Amino acid sequence: MSREQVTIIIDDILERYPSRPEYLIFLLQDIQSAYNYVSPEALNLVCDHVGVPLTQAYAVATFYKSFSLEPKGEHEIKVCLGTACHLKGGERLIEDWERKLKMKAGETTPDLKFTLDSVNCLGCCALSPVMVVDEEYHAKASSSTINKIIKKFANE
Ligand code: FES
Repeated sequence: MSREQVTIIIDDILERYPSRPEYLIFLLQDIQSAYNYVSPEALNLVCDHVGVPLTQAYAVATFYKSFSLEPKGEHEIKVCLGTACHLKGGERLIEDWERKLKMKAGETTPDLKFTLDSVNCLGCCALSPVMVVDEEYHAKASSSTINKIIKKFANE
């Protein structure tokens, strides 16, 4: 996507909301949803539009976990490392993903296809070890679960 196309999309998003501070979060949500992250340029444009200081917008964007200031992959993988999942092999799942995607937890692949993260308890410990891929929960996950997911994405 060219810089010109990016600006056009952000302009479209800005036009959806009045230029008032109370629309800050709505704008950030729409930008997050369009780009999978909020770039510094987008944050500046939003601040200009709603009339809030950059420090305030930055504080909001870093407070809510649903916003990312770094580019995220098309597919988000979250492996639970809460106590139950850790005991049932959560760490091995992370290592397996890292090996197969040639990346480290907390990173995004250079082609922006995958982002791998660890999370604390997802609230379904009886199903441990658990991982979430693009909002889909995988209970009692194993290396073979990972292989199936990678195969599915390779066929897209
Ligand atoms: S520790 Fe993983 S779901 Fe609770």
